[in-house]
Amino acid sequence: GNNINQFSKGFLWGGAVAANQCEGAWNVGGKGISIADVATAGALDKHREYTDGVIEGKYYPSHEAIDFYHRYKEDIALFAEMGFKCFRTSIAWTRIFPNGDEIEPNEEGLKFYDNLFDECLKYGIEPVVTISHYEMPYALVEKYGAWRNRKLVDFYVNYCKVIFTRYKDKVKYWMTFNEINVVSLHPFISAGIKIKDGEKREEVCYQAAHHQFLASAKAVKLGHEINPDFKIGCMILYPLVYPETCNPKDVQAANEMMDKHYFFSDVQVRGYYPSKMKRYFEINNINIHMEEGDEEILRAGKVDFIGFSYYMSLVATSKTIKGDNTTSGNMLGGVENPYLKASDWGWQIDPEGLRISLNNLYDRYQVPLFIVENGLGAVDKVEEDGSICDDYRIDYLRKHIIEMKKAVTIDGVDLVGYTPWGCIDLISASTGEMKKRYGFIYVDKDNEGNGTLKRYKKKSFYWYKNVIATNGEEL
Ligand code: BG6
Repeated sequence: GNNINQFSKGFLWGGAVAANQCEGAWNVGGKGISIADVATAGALDKHREYTDGVIEGKYYPSHEAIDFYHRYKEDIALFAEMGFKCFRTSIAWTRIFPNGDEIEPNEEGLKFYDNLFDECLKYGIEPVVTISHYEMPYALVEKYGAWRNRKLVDFYVNYCKVIFTRYKDKVKYWMTFNEINVVSLHPFISAGIKIKDGEKREEVCYQAAHHQFLASAKAVKLGHEINPDFKIGCMILYPLVYPETCNPKDVQAANEMMDKHYFFSDVQVRGYYPSKMKRYFEINNINIHMEEGDEEILRAGKVDFIGFSYYMSLVATSKTIKGDNTTSGNMLGGVENPYLKASDWGWQIDPEGLRISLNNLYDRYQVPLFIVENGLGAVDKVEEDGSICDDYRIDYLRKHIIEMKKAVTIDGVDLVGYTPWGCIDLISASTGEMKKRYGFIYVDKDNEGNGTLKRYKKKSFYWYKNVIATNGEEL
């Protein structure tokens, strides 16, 4: 039996990546161009550029990435050596439907994921699959305006039908859209949308979100028909927001910020739009086009679990922000938290916030939770003997696991598993950098694309291996 003071025996320890950030081979095996393939390299202080198509002479980090496409056997062997129980990756939509609107899938792409999943299963590693992780077909952007267009729902559902049918005996855990709540912050990487002059940004983004909600709900229903054992989740970026002070005005500001994110999980978990957001749309004259039957579709496609990413917490204030107290790298905004330290990219590190987040989500929804991303992006140094001493990463993960354990053993949260982000170094989504590393495994490659791509085990590799071996008892 299970000891209530420990993680359950079947707890899914593992690691997470996304196809576009690790596979490379961007035009191999019949793959089409994805939106990630038109993103140039940036930095903390330099935005990535999203070009109109692939332009010769520009550097696109996803094109080679860490060449996981050709090296997955070697990499999965390393995951197995760490004792992974599961491995979260995504399917590149463009390997299956190069342009997104074909009727028939690309067999070579399907075969690649057959091989990849078989390789995982060979070691008893359960694949956890994100269906769309910031990598929709670029042709859908050009031809249809991406998720602005309701036609995308059918294309997405057709894609799901193909992969659900093909992998029904290999994959059980699915997530429909990575960080679906990011759409208004990053409309392009999340929904292929570039806001045009004169457009109402929020209206465009929430319309796209409505289409993704429909697509997700239809996928959930279809998936359960294809295999009733499927566990299909949503995936949200969980931004824990604190009020700056106990001034009720700050508390209200924090709540308002959270509401914008809870909106997404509310719809996907409960199956209907929360009244508060409906009022928000009315008050702000945001018109979402809905069709008859949409409400029924949402109700029929409630997710089985919540997958979420957790990297940091934020602070909301009712005061006007002057600019000097905002955290530099925080793509989510907010002011600095004097009790916390930030990563080199300005993300405020908050292990206790993970316990709070798990409680917030579980109290609100009462469905199983899955931490599918967490980790520290940091610069690593390779010593002359090839070793990498990433104590800072171990420290970050250890503290988060301690709090996660409290949420499970003291607070009784139903947690399925834990997959730290970028278990092998990969391309950063926000900056396109290589030097922002998360991995237990180092990959020899730099920001400009130079390097041998050779893999090295970091100190954290051995540490995490022991964490898994002891089921989280030795941290
Ligand atoms: C999440 C994404 O936002 O955070 C990942 O789902 C991403 O794709 C991760 O890589 C870490 O962010 P970054 O910008 O450091 O790569």
